[in-house]
Amino acid sequence: MDRREAMLRELNLHPLWVRRHAPEPMPSVAAAVAEEPSAEIQPPSSDVLQSRADAALRVEAEVGDLFVAEPYGLRDSGEDSLREFQLKIAGGPLADVAWPELRQKVRDCALCALRAGCTQTVFGVGDEQADWLFVGEAPGEEEDASGEPFVGQAGRLLDNVLTSIKLKRGDNVYIANVIKCRPEEDRHPHVGEIAACLPYLKRQIELVKPKIIVALGKTAASALLDTDATIAALRGGVHDYNGIPLIVTYHPAYLLRSPMEKAKVWQDLCLAVATLQKT
Ligand code: URA
Repeated sequence: MDRREAMLRELNLHPLWVRRHAPEPMPSVAAAVAEEPSAEIQPPSSDVLQSRADAALRVEAEVGDLFVAEPYGLRDSGEDSLREFQLKIAGGPLADVAWPELRQKVRDCALCALRAGCTQTVFGVGDEQADWLFVGEAPGEEEDASGEPFVGQAGRLLDNVLTSIKLKRGDNVYIANVIKCRPEEDRHPHVGEIAACLPYLKRQIELVKPKIIVALGKTAASALLDTDATIAALRGGVHDYNGIPLIVTYHPAYLLRSPMEKAKVWQDLCLAVATLQKT
């Protein structure tokens, strides 16, 4: 058995079946994260820097549109910058909030338009004192129906990934998403939606106090590390989230589309295990 086959067996992914015909496009979040960039790291060009500056301006405009600011005593005119807005949420109502109240705040949240279009909020699941925290993007259809993160096809793959490093959902593992409400048609969340929802995840992290965080995909990695870098650029290193080591890997939904990348996820998880052993 070669090394690759051994890795795939560990991940319960062997034998690898290859379809004779082109696969149907994946519905749900899988489609949204299907094209995770895999380019090598490049220093940002002046065009990229300019487009980031433009994006920052768009965020501010979007924040003005999206937020129902009244619960936080903010005006809805977009006068508050994104950062000020986040500070007001994080430093205000969420700073001392314990689990039950945090759950309630997420249930009652009306900071963006997503809550109005979803069935229920998907808060997070697992051991509230876990060493391991896995962070995904947003609920899809099945998560929206069940109220639990990662219960669909991508979730079953995540469970296999956990098994491959002798972990299991709920046992020293907590799983959460950046976004707590399903975006319609399982699109990627908008920056304003991420800005609105991120403080809830940040408070979850403060409460769980994990020893290691695994960011699954670009949305989780970008939100937690505040970066635009690609997954390919972020993988392979140990990042820092407020003193907690953070490993970046591909989103399971992307792996459903690109099974050849599974070996890289296995490597990332091995790095995570080794990092945790050193703490
Ligand atoms: N994808 C995610 O990022 N989160 C889920 O909960 C399900 C699919």
